[in-house]
Amino acid sequence: MSKAGLFISFEGPDGSGKSTQISYLKEFFEEKGLDCVFTREPGGTEIGEKLRDVILDTHNYEMCDMTEALLYAASRAQHVSQVIQPALDEGKIVVCDRYVDSSVAYQGYGRQLGGDVVSAINDHAIMGCLPDVTFLIEIDPKDGKKRIKSSERDRLESEKLWFHKRVYKGYLEMAEKYPERIIVIDGTGSREEMRDEILGHVSRILKERGIL
Ligand code: TYD
Repeated sequence: MSKAGLFISFEGPDGSGKSTQISYLKEFFEEKGLDCVFTREPGGTEIGEKLRDVILDTHNYEMCDMTEALLYAASRAQHVSQVIQPALDEGKIVVCDRYVDSSVAYQGYGRQLGGDVVSAINDHAIMGCLPDVTFLIEIDPKDGKKRIKSSERDRLESEKLWFHKRVYKGYLEMAEKYPERIIVIDGTGSREEMRDEILGHVSRILKERGIL
């Protein structure tokens, strides 16, 4: 599939502060008057949000790991075909809170289905639609977990620390494998430090593409 716009994704362990950084980026794009779509996974479409409820429901403790991986991929397939690819084709900037790297990290490494297996499933869902740039906010899973109240944790966030350590390892391995796409941001810095670093990269990319 062809791609005209700019596709940015945000990744990181739970509690990494992604949402705050995404809201800073939103303000930045609004100030510049750029046409952007902000979306998230799992979800991002009506069908995807229904799948999200099933995936994250803490009552669904019986869900097998492959079902989980396929549901995330199903939500993503809908998201790509209904929202992401059409927006990119119109030349828009798309910012997605989590995307395929989350599946490789959480289902591939966390659930131990294997990064290759999960990537292969997702190849069918994304049809070649990969982010141009991915910001990976790096924070020790122990610290990330502490930032989310136990009463507010969803099914994935409630997983044991060793699960989140494997997820983290998966993220670091992907960052090594795709250095041209994945930019690692130190999640231990202040919100403002992280914001300045991310906006610095985004401004550079926009200039390189002739958008700014
Ligand atoms: P969400 O509630 O949006 O939390 P966060 O604010 O941390 O992004 O994320 C949903 C959970 O789903 C989160 O624990 C990560 C997990 N996840 C996967 O396991 N695989 C995936 O493919 C995606 C997109 C998310």
